[in-house]
Order: sequence, then C-alpha cells, then structure tokens
Amino acid sequence: MALCKLLTLLSIIAMASAAMVVHESRTSVPAGFVSQGAAPANDMLTLRVALTSNNVAGLEEQLMSLSTPGSSEFRQWLSMEEVKAFVQPSSETVSAFSAFASANGLEPTLPVSQANQLFAAQFEVFTHPDMPDTITRTLSVSLPSELVGHVDVIHPTTEFTGPNTRLAPTSFISLDRRAVAASCNSSLPSGVVTPTCLQELYGIPTTPATEKTNSLLVTAYEDEFAQTADLSEFLKLLRPDIPSTTTFTLLTTAGGINTQNPEDAGTEADLDIEYTTGIATDVPIEFLAVGGNNFATSLLDTTTFLDGVATPPSVMTTSYGDTETDIGSSMATKICNGYMALGTRGISVVFASGDGGVRGNHDTLSICDDNTFMPVFPAACPFVTAVGSTQGFGPEKAINFTGGGFSNFFPTPSYQTAAVASFLKTVPSNFAGTFNKAGRGYPDLAVQGWNFEIVAGGETGLVGGTSASSPTFAGIIALINDRLIAAGKPVLGFLNPFIYSTASTAFTDITIGHNSGFVCPASSVAFDAAVGWDALTGFGTPIFPNSWPLRWRNEFTRKYLLNLNVTFLE
Ligand SMILES: *[C@@H]1O[C@H](CO)[C@@H](O)[C@H](O)[C@H]1NC(C)=O
Ligand SMILES: *[C@@H]1O[C@H](CO)[C@@H](O)[C@H](O)[C@H]1NC(C)=O
Ligand SMILES: *[C@@H]1O[C@H](CO)[C@@H](O)[C@H](O)[C@H]1NC(C)=O
Repeated sequence: MALCKLLTLLSIIAMASAAMVVHESRTSVPAGFVSQGAAPANDMLTLRVALTSNNVAGLEEQLMSLSTPGSSEFRQWLSMEEVKAFVQPSSETVSAFSAFASANGLEPTLPVSQANQLFAAQFEVFTHPDMPDTITRTLSVSLPSELVGHVDVIHPTTEFTGPNTRLAPTSFISLDRRAVAASCNSSLPSGVVTPTCLQELYGIPTTPATEKTNSLLVTAYEDEFAQTADLSEFLKLLRPDIPSTTTFTLLTTAGGINTQNPEDAGTEADLDIEYTTGIATDVPIEFLAVGGNNFATSLLDTTTFLDGVATPPSVMTTSYGDTETDIGSSMATKICNGYMALGTRGISVVFASGDGGVRGNHDTLSICDDNTFMPVFPAACPFVTAVGSTQGFGPEKAINFTGGGFSNFFPTPSYQTAAVASFLKTVPSNFAGTFNKAGRGYPDLAVQGWNFEIVAGGETGLVGGTSASSPTFAGIIALINDRLIAAGKPVLGFLNPFIYSTASTAFTDITIGHNSGFVCPASSVAFDAAVGWDALTGFGTPIFPNSWPLRWRNEFTRKYLLNLNVTFLE
C-alpha cells in the first residue's frame, strides 16, 4: 500500500518534470536602464550558477546560537571545514544539476537562444547612461521543476546592479591648507574630522595593538586602488605618533589589482585604508582588491574567497552598496547567506548603510517626490552590521544622507524585533512614506561621516559618506578584538544580537535628524531620528572608556564599548 502510494507520487513527479517554475521575475526595468530590444539569438552568454547549500536553516540557527549572549556556545566560532559542511550543496543537488546539464548540453558559455529556451527567459540588451557597456538581462527566469530547490541563482538573469556603488556622496574637496592632527573642536577649517578627533570623540585608544593573528580586511571594488604613498603621507600628517611606514597587505581575487600611481588613486580605497589604519593602531590591515565589473558577483567572489581562508580576518569593512531591488531577491539572498557563513567563522561583517537616506544608495533629484522608500543592500542583510553617519559635535546629529530603512527581501530578525517595534511607534500614523514594516531595519549604529580629511593622489582633501563611518567602526572592533585575543578570548564575530542586547549602555543615542538625502530637499518625506534605535543611526555612536587602556587593565569588570563585561571576561 505504502509502496503503491510512493509509486503514484513518483510518477506524478516524473510527469511534472517538464514544467517550468518561475524562479524570479520583475514587473519593470529598474530605473536608469533602457532596453535596446531582444538580445541577438547567437550572442554568447557566460552563465554562473549558484547551487543551493545543503543546510542554510541549520547554519542560521548555528549563527544565532554562537552570537547570542547567554548561549552555551557563545562565540565558539566554527572552523572553515565546519562551515563548509553547511554551505556546500548536497550530493542530490549536484547530481540533479549535472543530469540537467548533460541532458541539455549545457556549457558555461551558451548562445542567448539556448538560455532563453532552457530557462523560459527573454534576454534583452540594456543600456544605462552612466555605464560604458551594455548588459544582457531578462525580466524573468524560470527553472525546470527538477532543478527547483537545487539552484539559488542563475547569473546574469534578473540582477541589474547600477553604476557607482561607492558610498561617498561628494567627490574629493581639496583643502588649501592641511589640517594637522587635532580634536574635533580645534581643527581648522572647523568641522574637519581626523583620526585624533574620532579618538577623542569616542574615546578610542591610541595604544598600539599587540596581536599579530588579528586582522582587519578592507574590501575594494570598481577598480578602486589604495595608494601606499597616500597612506604614508596621511599617517605623517594625522597620526604622527605612529610610524608612517605602517602599511597594509594586499590580497586579490577574481583578477583584482592595486595599481600604484598618484593618478590611479581611488578616493574610496584611500579613505577606507587611511581610516582603518589610522584608527586600528598597529592592527594588521589587509586590502582585498576584487576584480570583475559586476558588483553582485564581486560580492559573491568576496565571500567565496574568505570561505577558503583558514585564518580569516576578525572584521571586514565594505563601503559599497546598491539599491536592494536592483540586485534582486535571489542574488541578494545568496550573497546575504554568504555573510551568514562568515559570521559563524567569527568575522564581524561591517557595511556602510548607503548615502541616499531613504532613497537608495545615492539619491537623485528625479526621485525626491517618490515616497516608496528604496532600501540598500548589503546593508539591509540581517547578517551584516550596517553603519550610518552623523555630523557635528555636541550633540552629534544624523546626517541627511544616512542610509536607513527596512528591507523588502529580509524579514525583521529576532534580535531586533523589540527595537524596531519601538521605533515604528514613533512613525506617525499618517506617515506618507511607504516601506516594509516587517522588514530588517537598518542601520545598526552610526559614526561620524562628514568632512573626513584624507590624502588621495598626493593631495589633501575632504570627503564624506557612510563610506567614512564603516571603516572607522571596523577599526574600533579590530582594537577590541586585539584585546580579546591578548586575553585568550574569542573575537566578537557577528555583532548584532550582542549589540541589540546591550545597546543602551554602549552607544550615545542620536535623536536629531531627518534622512531625506544629500540631494533631495529636507522637506522630502523621510524618517526622523528618535530616542532609542532608529532607521537613521541605529542605536547611535559608540562609546569607548575615557582612559584606555589603564582603566581596562585595572578594572576588568567595568563596562566599556558594547558592554563587554557581561560576556567577555566570564
Ligand atoms: C568640544 O567642546 C565642548 C565645549 O567646550 C565640549 O563639551 C566637548 O566635549 C568638546 N568636544 C571634543 C570632542 O573635544
Ligand atoms: C545635506 O548635508 C550636507 C552636509 O551637511 C550638506 O552639504 C548638503 O547641502 C545637505 N543637503 C541638503 C539637500 O540640504
Ligand atoms: C558590569 O559589571 C559591573 C561590575 O561587575 C556591574 O556592576 C554592572 O552591573 C555590569 N553591567 C551590566 C550591564 O551587567
């Protein structure tokens, strides 16, 4: 009887195997992209397929258990091999895909006509005014039913990453005179932010790190090259107390390079490398240059690279992001799951939250009247720590462009349900903005993000953006990890459950600001900062103890950044 039922079931599955199931589709072309018509049938496409991991649910449960204070496994981070056991596809998945590939003569590079037929797609050629090359995409991609549950992403299909994913809203503004290392109060011209200013403002120690097994990784995309000469000049000027020969280790993946020439200086790369090196005194810094010309696949290449590193960095910072909807849900989910895996290894994955306020990674005048908010990815991934921006001193305020809001793809994770619910109560019932109240809210915290003094291409100037906030916060985390390692303790790893459980004592709450954007007028609909967590600055800006490291050495049990006394030295 049971066998009979099983056979019936099997024959139904066999009959259904020719059916196509929509995997992802879009109702319209993302803003800025223009279709130039159907892609020629004989054009060749190179496909990348991401197979489904065998146990994402188990990995997520493991991450929460490892990162939630009070858990018996708290901070018992996993090895490379342990994570691989969750992430690799099952043998059924590999066989299902191999059978499909051989039955259909599927090669990595195939004509558009075959791709259209195999995946019920209609590939078109698209242009974007700010992109030099055309891209080939389809608004809908389907899977034959025998691949459903075995394939997460087929690329390129429905992913449309826009140009300029760097999160700095202003270009480099040259300074006539070089500010010297100075407090936020005394620096000239007024309001210039330097490492010394940040150290004073947040109580960050200047004492050198001691642990050489600890490292901080800066990621770089879009051919942004960090210049060792600029870093050296920056340190001479703004960290005269440490050797100006302090530098970083270059890592590369997917053909990334890091060309050294004043004219090749990347403002983003220089900012990121200067503020990590300038804050995380003597922590080994790594710069990962990721090649390729597609942001989404470069993000996947980054996690793949780190999955294969046996001794990973303790913190990684990324100052790039794109509008979540442009990346699309299958690609965003795969990338976000990659950060979940890095979290279980004990890597704090830190991202800038975006520079368009509630309107994408960069706001533009054409969207100021659109009250449908546009979340930013990867900041909106629940497995990263998203850093927004403040400006001004006494009190710090949320800056207008600080990226914040709610994901349309990822639901509110359990660690932040109470914080998000309190914030939503402050949003008026007649609020004109449209957003997903049930989504992951971001950012998680904020750091200064305006008028950062940097050296780029041999010139001194000012830049701003959540791009400046993220490396600064990563530097703080790296310094804490240095002390943890020195004390024989595990590193902080995935931060969010910890931050949300201890935030009231660990951050200065930022309660003023409106994130309508850098370009959109302040009258545009946006969120307002509030008491407690908000979708502009999260819990606020970090607090370090005033007299590091003496106080830390002498009073081990006192609370300091992130209220470590609860969990760190037990
Ligand atoms: C700046 O000056 C104000 C007023 O004297 C003081 O309260 C504040 O702590 C100073 N901030 C810094 C970063 O020195
Ligand atoms: C947003 O803030 C920045 C920094 O204070 C300022 O330069 C810019 O003009 C502001 N934008 C708007 C639209 O007010
Ligand atoms: C931190 O440790 C001190 C001393 O043991 C204690 O008084 C304080 O309550 C602790 N803080 C928290 C939030 O547990």
